[in-house]
Order: sequence, then structure tokens, then C-alpha cells
Amino acid sequence: MAEPLLQIRNLKIRIQRGNEYGYPVNDISYDLFENETLGVVGESGSGKSMHILAMLGLLPRGLVVESGEILFAGRDLLKMKEKEQRDIRGNEIGVVFQDPMTSLNPVLTIGRQISEVLVRHKRLDWASARNKAKELLELVGIPDAERRMRSFPFQFSGGMRQRVMIAIALACGPRLLIADEATTALDVTIQAQVIDLIRSLKDRFGMSVLWITHDIGVVAGFAETVQVMYAGQIMERGPVRSVFYNTANAYTWSLLKSLPRADQLAEEALYQIPGQPPNPFQLAKGDPFAERNPFATARCFEERPVLRPVGDVDGHQVSAWYDLKARIEETRTRT
Ligand SMILES: Nc1ncnc2c1ncn2[C@@H]1O[C@H](COP(=O)(O)OP(=O)(O)OP(=O)(O)O)[C@@H](O)[C@H]1O
Ligand SMILES: [Mg+2]
Repeated sequence: MAEPLLQIRNLKIRIQRGNEYGYPVNDISYDLFENETLGVVGESGSGKSMHILAMLGLLPRGLVVESGEILFAGRDLLKMKEKEQRDIRGNEIGVVFQDPMTSLNPVLTIGRQISEVLVRHKRLDWASARNKAKELLELVGIPDAERRMRSFPFQFSGGMRQRVMIAIALACGPRLLIADEATTALDVTIQAQVIDLIRSLKDRFGMSVLWITHDIGVVAGFAETVQVMYAGQIMERGPVRSVFYNTANAYTWSLLKSLPRADQLAEEALYQIPGQPPNPFQLAKGDPFAERNPFATARCFEERPVLRPVGDVDGHQVSAWYDLKARIEETRTRT
């Protein structure tokens, strides 16, 4: 197989509070290949955003990379000078965040904001940049692009602003598109449209996509690979079908179980994961999910598991000491 486009190796991110250390990202390693769509899921606070902010050199104050490597096309982003990092961020990695209203400048027209990226990163003159910006607006499905170029962000709906953010992210033809909760604030229909748009753009431009969401349901029809994170660790990872139908980690199982289903009766309560989400300052010594896991074994409380293969499905890996299917069966026969 080809070299991965992105290789994360033993990444550990630290926060310091007084004399205490916390680890919102606690030793993760994974690969993302050219053309692959990876969905990264997990509850709030699992370290999804922090690990990409580290990649982009945008960690908030007080957070530092303690160790590890983030190789993009073979080069370590963490060892680059700020200018090099900025060039990669503009040209080769496009990013779409959740809230386009705060990412867009309220006093500049949409056309101006897209053009600016092209002038800055692609060194186009303003007239060519403007033409290209209009094409990009058409590409992301904004009707009447010529006129819309002169609009300001507040004149656009949330879904349209998110399309503009995608246009900006795609402006320089990135090899990797990162979307962090890009559709979370949108209503379901618009969310589906934006996902379709990204899927078709991905095919058209042959990009890799790193799709971050707390909603495992969104990933199902969209990504090839899913990666479940909890307490800054990777709990399970693999081809979507295998992870969904041959789930091996209790946390993944809980996320899937808490998804609303079409065949569910209205009065039937949704499964809620018991207990509190983890605190990066008080990480368990064993499996971070052990306390909330109805299938945990004694070993889960003692030792941190490492990723191991699941069955013979290529790329399916789990971090767990137990055999989930067997544990579910045991619990069922006991009650
Ligand atoms: N600005 C900050 N300063 C200090 N700690 C932070 C900051 N932002 C996040 N953290 C810590 O990092 C941990 C991981 O946060 P992160 O933003 O990566 O979670 P996430 O998985 O992206 O969650 P969400 O679904 O809410 O976006 C959080 O539990 C929090 O303790
Ligand atoms: Mg986040």
C-alpha cells in the first residue's frame, strides 16, 4: 500500500494547571491514507479537536504537545517552522470548523474573503482570484454566485455560510480536508446536503477527509474508516461496517446503543451511558472507560489496554482486555 498521507505517532498533549498535569490526548497513533475518509467520533472532551489543533499548530494557550510525531506526506508538522506550517495549512490542509459565523469576517464580503485566500496562498492577482472565488461558490452549490459574492456573512443562512467555509477550505486544492463538527449546528436536512457535497468534492478532487463528530450516526453512511476516541485514547478503529456490526469495544457499543433508531417506539427511552465523562486530570490507570462499562473485567481497572486486531478484518483494531460478545452473552445469561 502507498505511504499514508498522515501518520500520527504516539501523540500526547498536556495541560498544566498549577502543579497538576492533564492529558486531553493521551498517546494516540494512527494513519490516514490518500483518498480515505476517516470519521473520528467520541463524546465531548475525548480529545478529537485537540489532536487536530496540534496538527494545525493552533493549540489553545496552556496546551502543549508533550511527545509524538504528526507526519504529513512524510514531514513532521510539529518540527516545522511556523511559516512552513502556515503554508501547509493554507495549501495542503483545508479546515472547516463548527461555527462559520465566528470564522468569517463580518465586515468583508464573501467574495473578498474567498479571494483573499487565493491571493495569499496561491499568489493570484485580485481579478483572477475573484473569478476563481466565483467558481468555488458555484462548486459548493451557492446559486447566483456573481451576486452572492457581494453579500456579507450575515446575509447568508447557516448552511450557506458552511458552504462558504468549505469553498475557502477547498480554495487551494488541499490533499486533506478536516471537518470538525462542521455540520453539528445545522438542521438535519442541511446537514445531509453538506455531507453529500463533501462526499462529491472528495471524489472529484481525490482528497482525504478527516471528519470529526460526536455523532457516530453521521459517520455510518459517509466514512470508510471510523475511529472511536475516549479520554484522549483510541478505543476502536476500523472499516465502518466491521466496527458497526462486529463491535469489539464497550464504549463503541454504548455510542451505537444510544443512537435513536427508526424502529424505536416513541416512549422507549434512549440508552444513556452511565457515569461521568472522563476528566483529563484524573485519568484512570487502567482502561479509561472501565468505570462506566457494564462489561468491564478486573483487569480493565488495573492495566491500560493497547490496540489489538479484531478477527481477521483488515484494519479493525480494539483497545480492550475483554471479548465484548462473550461478555454480553455472559451478562445476559446471568440475568
Ligand atoms: N482551552 C482549553 N484549555 C484547557 N483545556 C482544554 C481547553 N479546551 C479543551 N480542553 C481540555 O481538553 C479536553 C479535550 O478537548 P477537545 O476539545 O479535544 O474535545 P472534543 O473531543 O473535541 O469534544 P467536543 O465534542 O466537545 O468538541 C477537554 O476535556 C478539556 O478538558
Ligand atoms: Mg471538538
